[in-house]
Amino acid sequence: MTYQFASELAGRTIVITGGGRSIGREMVAAAAAAKMKVAILEVNKVNLDKTVAELKSTGGDVTGYVVDLEVKSQIVDAIAKIEKDFGKIEVFVNNAAFHDAEDMLASTLEMWNKTFAINTTAPFLCIQAVLPGMIARNSGSIINIGTVNSKMMIGSDSYTASKAALHAITRTVAVRYGKHNIRCNTIVPGTIATEVWQERIDRNPTIFDNLKSWYPLGRVGKPSDITAAVLYLASDQAPWMTGTEFVVDGGLLAGFAPMYPMVEGSD
Ligand SMILES: NC(=O)c1ccc[n+]([C@@H]2O[C@H](COP(=O)([O-])OP(=O)(O)OC[C@H]3O[C@@H](n4cnc5c(N)ncnc54)[C@H](O)[C@@H]3O)[C@@H](O)[C@H]2O)c1
Repeated sequence: MTYQFASELAGRTIVITGGGRSIGREMVAAAAAAKMKVAILEVNKVNLDKTVAELKSTGGDVTGYVVDLEVKSQIVDAIAKIEKDFGKIEVFVNNAAFHDAEDMLASTLEMWNKTFAINTTAPFLCIQAVLPGMIARNSGSIINIGTVNSKMMIGSDSYTASKAALHAITRTVAVRYGKHNIRCNTIVPGTIATEVWQERIDRNPTIFDNLKSWYPLGRVGKPSDITAAVLYLASDQAPWMTGTEFVVDGGLLAGFAPMYPMVEGSD
């Protein structure tokens, strides 16, 4: 996809968690193409090294930090190092996530805790670490990647609950730190075809085709659909947007697409 970049993004520093693959990788590639200075926090060293090498080879200013977001000291140390290496963090994207597709009865406490550790506690710790610098500079944009699951029941119980908490954190940060010109928004994606789906694709190879009928725009999403929204919220084109749930879902949450023909009797 060709993005329209806001010119002020060039030279701006952005940190993206989970940037080694899928949506995060697309964000890294787009930010690098916009001439931003990009830092990636990623636990998978193989994917991290590959992403950094590929984007550096095309002129991107991209630096990777191996970080397990389940470990507080690694988060705190990495963000301190990035602030030292880059001078400041202007945009922070909480993108990394863990998805446990089990229901209430099948979920284990271990998986529940891991889901919350990566999806909720890690963004809290990251935000806590970047806020002082943003407050000191009276400027910052924090972007949390949420999910439509947090707006209505679409499966994956612990994932849903952990992301709903992240949606709430967005509001508390936006309201409390707005006076410091810090914006915090949640992007709310619908189904995006990424590697996290592989296990489910293996079980049901037509899963995206089956899901299409729920999407008024007739397809599931692509990583670029979410990345375009990230670049917008990172830019000065969104100066009065904060505390929002920025829904990027092909129309899913607007209604039950397969239902209305039944209601109208035309199905
Ligand atoms: N794919 C979808 O259908 C979809 C839908 C709605 C929302 N989202 C959200 O979009 C974001 C990206 O999703 P995706 O499909 O690209 O996911 P993905 O699983 O493909 O990528 C997640 C990345 O996070 C990294 N990560 C996981 N645990 C980590 C840890 N402990 N420390 C550091 N890095 C870690 C992974 O290594 C991976 O690179 C997530 O927040 C997800 O909840 C995705």
